[in-house]
Amino acid sequence: MTLLLRALKTADTSNRDEVLIPAYTCYSVAASVVKAGLKISVYDLDPQTLRPDRDSLKNAAGNKTLAIVYQHLFGIPQPREDFHDIAVEHGIPLIEDAAQGLGGLLNGKQLGTMGDFGIFSFGRGKPLPIGAGGALTGRKDILDAVPIMSSAKGVRRLVTSVAVQALSYPFLYGIMEKLPLGLGKTVFDPGFTISGMPSMMKILSKSSLAGMESLNAHRRTIAGIYQARLDSARRVKEHAGSLPVYTRFPFFAESKLVSSQLYRLGVRRMYPEAISEEPVIRTYLANSDQPAPGAKQIAESLVTLPTHSRITPPIARIIAAGLQEEYHC
Ligand SMILES: Cc1ncc(COP(=O)(O)O)c(C=O)c1O
Repeated sequence: MTLLLRALKTADTSNRDEVLIPAYTCYSVAASVVKAGLKISVYDLDPQTLRPDRDSLKNAAGNKTLAIVYQHLFGIPQPREDFHDIAVEHGIPLIEDAAQGLGGLLNGKQLGTMGDFGIFSFGRGKPLPIGAGGALTGRKDILDAVPIMSSAKGVRRLVTSVAVQALSYPFLYGIMEKLPLGLGKTVFDPGFTISGMPSMMKILSKSSLAGMESLNAHRRTIAGIYQARLDSARRVKEHAGSLPVYTRFPFFAESKLVSSQLYRLGVRRMYPEAISEEPVIRTYLANSDQPAPGAKQIAESLVTLPTHSRITPPIARIIAAGLQEEYHC
């Protein structure tokens, strides 16, 4: 994301230095903008659908906006149409953040192929969870200017990746997060280093691609179990024609609390605060006066349920029953 933003900034001729991102997203999206030397601006989200609040988006986009980032959080497809006219009006590109969307479809189209650029992550918990790395696709004129970075820390990353796979049994989740691997933490760190994907990881990602479809199918089966048991009014409303990935299954618990029993089963809150509320990130906001009540509501009421390969249907039923009891749903 940072390399792409730098390339867009280099190609820009009209002094644009703000990147418009969702007010509820991964903190590393905000960090990428800061790392690229740009300012963050945010648009609010509808807490029922996770789609943009159009008024907020229109209000936030302007002649300083370099690009708009739109995302498929949890691999739940979001339509490009919500953004397209605004991007065209301002003559700026749409960056489709499909970090969680690889393998998902919207009306038959692959997530990550609908924006001017597509971004994919291969980190832990992503559709292709090899532990590190990612991919960037899109307009050749800009991508040609993105430098190929040398790879670093290949062995450490591979070991981390293997450890993550080996320890991903639901009941070992808590233990895994206590290891000094930085797992399960949401941190805002614009000081991160940028490096290429080590060649070992590239080989691993290629060979894992074949298994991704079956992992995604498994995730959908587990999500189906949650859907059948949990109050439909407290689930994210999906767009017609969606084939989601469900990297995790989002549910509006209407509470910030996750009991220790649900925690042990892998139930987690997602990002602790909206981008617009996080005190350090706020210092980088170009539009900190823009209200984002939807994002705040999401941050305060959303919990997410695991769908990965170690979650069997009986475990999913135990998790759903735990939620029903805890949140009266
Ligand atoms: C929507 C979204 N964008 C970007 C990222 C960042 O991906 P990475 O972990 O590869 O930096 C994440 C990670 O959780 C994400 O969920």
